[in-house]
Amino acid sequence: MAIPDPQDTRNIVLTGFMASGKSTIGRRLADRLHRPFLDCDVEIVKRAGKPIAQIFAEDGEPAFRQMERELVEELASQSGLVIATGGGMLVDPINRQRMIDTGVVICLDTPPEDIERRLSGSKERPLASNWRELYEKRREAYQAIPYHVNTAGLSPGQTTERILALWRKLSR
Ligand code: S3P
Repeated sequence: MAIPDPQDTRNIVLTGFMASGKSTIGRRLADRLHRPFLDCDVEIVKRAGKPIAQIFAEDGEPAFRQMERELVEELASQSGLVIATGGGMLVDPINRQRMIDTGVVICLDTPPEDIERRLSGSKERPLASNWRELYEKRREAYQAIPYHVNTAGLSPGQTTERILALWRKLSR
């Protein structure tokens, strides 16, 4: 089996809708590739010193999106990372382009029934109650991501293998 070329230090960026598995898969992928893993939501929570729901409630969504933009700028100047974005981070066309220009961006496509199941009872996600509308609205933005892996019927391990296979093909 071909081993991903360690010379290729582009960031590997996982994006996709809420609850598509970006963090779970990102962590596994980083382990497999011996790369550091950065979860954008976790990083923002650390910087703000409060949970995302509290950022939305106290500072508003625009403040959260501004933090995302700043983080994208920082990450675009780094390499060798596996990054899991928040679900809305690359809906912004400027953020999306920055990540595409500086890394390999892969969108996890997850069927709505899986999203629904995973989001039911989610208290940490301030936009979860509105997810169906967002899912439709963001369709085009996600379609603009260069690479896609469909997670339907796949375990986290199988999804990770698919991404590794894609990375082996893409790495240079
Ligand atoms: C959001 C998704 C969340 C988090 C925030 C906003 C979104 O991340 O960044 O609640 O706009 O889709 P997950 O995709 O990890 O749930």
